[in-house]
Amino acid sequence: MKLDVVFTPLGLQPAEFQGRTVFVVDILRATTTMCAALYHGARAVIPVAETDEALRLAQTLDSADVILAGERQCLPIPGFPLGNSPREMTPEAVRGKTIILTTTNGTRAVLATQGAAAVYPMAAANLGAASQRAREVWEREGDLAILCAGREGRFALDDAYAAGRLAMAALGTARRRRGLNDSALASLDLVRRYGLRWERPLATSHSGRDLAAVDLKADILDAAREDAYPVLVQYHERRLTLAQEAA
Ligand code: MLT
Repeated sequence: MKLDVVFTPLGLQPAEFQGRTVFVVDILRATTTMCAALYHGARAVIPVAETDEALRLAQTLDSADVILAGERQCLPIPGFPLGNSPREMTPEAVRGKTIILTTTNGTRAVLATQGAAAVYPMAAANLGAASQRAREVWEREGDLAILCAGREGRFALDDAYAAGRLAMAALGTARRRRGLNDSALASLDLVRRYGLRWERPLATSHSGRDLAAVDLKADILDAAREDAYPVLVQYHERRLTLAQEAA
């Protein structure tokens, strides 16, 4: 049995996720935004690392169906119609569209999962759907990884708390903690410290304070809404799309 939480993609070994199921979390805000976009009818979200890459990719796709979205330092990228706010992913803005998304940490974390057998972004917004899949995988395979996007290679409280919530849901009532790495044990301790309300760990985190500083506190509140965008999202063939509900 092996349940690993990884606090940042920095220092990941190439084979770390080979053949495994990996959940990726950047709750403030990239994985929340991905859930919001797909819940509101986007056809797909394509995560990319760099702004240039997003622009180049947009030129190769049918422009009527494509929207560029993303942030740098929490703010929309000049010339991109959408930022990285889940509240911008309204049905009017995204239905039927393919969104090319580039963010500082979250899209890079998704891209860091090469070799994984299955990749699912998670957030409070889709905790129920993600938990159900995590539990199925844990019970069937006894192996699970949760990758936190972190902040520029550093630990992020908001993501670590979210990882703890998912780990707790996957483990269910099992009391044995054998097979959990130290980061998984620490994530579970964060859940014990903060309890089941998302607002405090999110608002207290560095990412939360950064968002508040640029008047985006409403995004913290949106990201704290459990099951607000109740979809299971998968990353497959370079795209994020809705996953089949059955494993
Ligand atoms: C990221 O990818 O670093 C975040 O989602 C930043 C943000 O809040 O926009």
